[in-house]
Amino acid sequence: MKIDFDNLDRHDCHQLLVGMVTPRPIAWVSTVGEDGIFNLAPFSFFGGLGSKPPFLYISIGSRRGEKKDTLRNIEYAGDFVVNVVDESLAEKMNQTSASYPASVSEFTEVGLTPLPSDKVKSPRLAESPISMECKLDRILEFGDSIDVNMVAIGEIVRAHVRDDVLSNGVVDPSKLKAIARLGADFYCRSGDLFEMKRPTHP
Ligand SMILES: Cc1cc2nc3c(=O)[nH]c(=O)nc-3n(C[C@H](O)[C@H](O)[C@H](O)COP(=O)(O)O)c2cc1C
Repeated sequence: MKIDFDNLDRHDCHQLLVGMVTPRPIAWVSTVGEDGIFNLAPFSFFGGLGSKPPFLYISIGSRRGEKKDTLRNIEYAGDFVVNVVDESLAEKMNQTSASYPASVSEFTEVGLTPLPSDKVKSPRLAESPISMECKLDRILEFGDSIDVNMVAIGEIVRAHVRDDVLSNGVVDPSKLKAIARLGADFYCRSGDLFEMKRPTHP
């Protein structure tokens, strides 16, 4: 089957894209607004860039033409924190994706604990095994005005890694148990691992 995105509406384009780009890691993004309210929401159009310095990007769509709280807060504070979602946090992560008004903190609504970050204004999430404090580097704009996507790129200025997910100083995927997003409403666990060494010669 050959598919041309020009012939699909917005919903079908999105469904196809999230079905093809998979599995996607989940950035559980904590931010603070001008009013001091802490916000928490998941984003799976997310990834890492570079190494030293390391950067993260998240792509934030619009909600009926309005900015999502996460974007508004990042623009205000100039920073954000990406928290990793493990299996034990899956249900609560999903709850924080509901469209709460800006005046409501998902931390309070869902029963999660904000902790002060070391180097940014945005809080980090106590329950998460890994949190990455990011200073906003730039925001890129994609799409048209009706369906605009803003990609926030942040430099990681501090990481917090819980000791029990480390083996010999390296994050151990079998201990981290991160979950990832698939197409439709599916998720996967990272329990079915196999190892493959990089070739030494081409
Ligand atoms: C697993 C998961 C991944 C998501 N990924 C994205 C994403 O990459 N971009 C986006 O704009 N919304 C994404 N969403 C939807 C947002 O989480 C949702 O719009 C949320 O209400 C935004 O909250 P905010 O207004 O507090 O920023 C995702 C939702 C879930 C459950």
